[in-house]
Amino acid sequence: MRERILVFGGSFDPPHQGHRALVEAAKEKIHPDRTIIIPSYHSPWKNKSWALPEDRFQMAKLAFPGAEISRVEMLAGRLVYTVDVLGRLKKENPDSEIHFVVGSDLALRFKEWKNPPRLRELAHWWTAARPPFQGRIPRFFNVISSAMPEISSTDLRVGFLMGEDRSREVSPAALKRILKRGLYGTTIIPALGKILKAERLTHTISVATLARKLAPIWGIDSFEAALAGLLHDAGRSVPISGMKSYCQKRRLRVPLFREISAYQPILLHAYISEDLSKRMFEIKTPEVLKAIRNHTLGAFNMGDLERLIYVSDACSEDRKYSEAAKLRKLAEKDPSRAFSECLNGKIRHAVSLQGWIHPLPIQLWNSIIL
Ligand SMILES: [Fe+2]
Ligand SMILES: [Fe+2]
Repeated sequence: MRERILVFGGSFDPPHQGHRALVEAAKEKIHPDRTIIIPSYHSPWKNKSWALPEDRFQMAKLAFPGAEISRVEMLAGRLVYTVDVLGRLKKENPDSEIHFVVGSDLALRFKEWKNPPRLRELAHWWTAARPPFQGRIPRFFNVISSAMPEISSTDLRVGFLMGEDRSREVSPAALKRILKRGLYGTTIIPALGKILKAERLTHTISVATLARKLAPIWGIDSFEAALAGLLHDAGRSVPISGMKSYCQKRRLRVPLFREISAYQPILLHAYISEDLSKRMFEIKTPEVLKAIRNHTLGAFNMGDLERLIYVSDACSEDRKYSEAAKLRKLAEKDPSRAFSECLNGKIRHAVSLQGWIHPLPIQLWNSIIL
């Protein structure tokens, strides 16, 4: 009988019990001689991975004991298409039968893969799904119809970031690595707890929670949303009296720095939050940093994530003013109206204080109503 190779690829960011259940179910059907797990360097289906390739490789090793974990994609150091990986595997094992297993979400999008006809020649295709399917799984797929735990890697990452107990969804060994390496921002809330007052920490968690909830409605990555929400007020750890000198020392670029420092130095915290996010938490994602920087004054041409954090900060659950709950509801239905209402509310509040007002929110208001 020909050797049978079971292949399962993915970004494994992180690998979870849903992946494992799929491989185990496929093994029972295929009875492979070898099982190869291939962590991708960069998945063509995702914008980015959050854990480093080496961490994802090591987690896969821990999550799939007994399987061969291939470095073929990682060594390439770039996006590698499945058709090329399978072509190479077939060349190295010309007499073997290759069985490739994928999640039903990818099976449904098989037409979008690179070179589907060649893919079909190279392997037998397997997926697991239970009817009724939400789309049409191509007929050549062997469908394993057993119940799989429904786990979303995206939601898992956000759960880790927010300090939830997700130990049942990943293998104990992979979990140990996640916590030891501080992957998916697991160290952020404990670190904020050390530098922020309790009330400020409650607020940041509240903002992150709302941003996470709104993110899928607004079409935004929920991990980025929660991350920016958690870090937006990190700069409040610096006393107001020290904010000006912090900005000077770090040479932060602040519009109308002299006026802000003189009349409303607390506004400097947003720029300090951005700086601390880079320095303390090694945040490099430009959209996340921009959302943190612009959460108080706003900016021209704000991106979706910037607006989401602006709105979430203005009406998070811990905000007790009378319109906050109404704004939260509005944010679920009409993102752009929610943004303009929040901006309007902030300007009205600034006017009511009868002090100096930074021109940026006013200019921004004019730009969105004209
Ligand atoms: Fe703030
Ligand atoms: Fe805030």
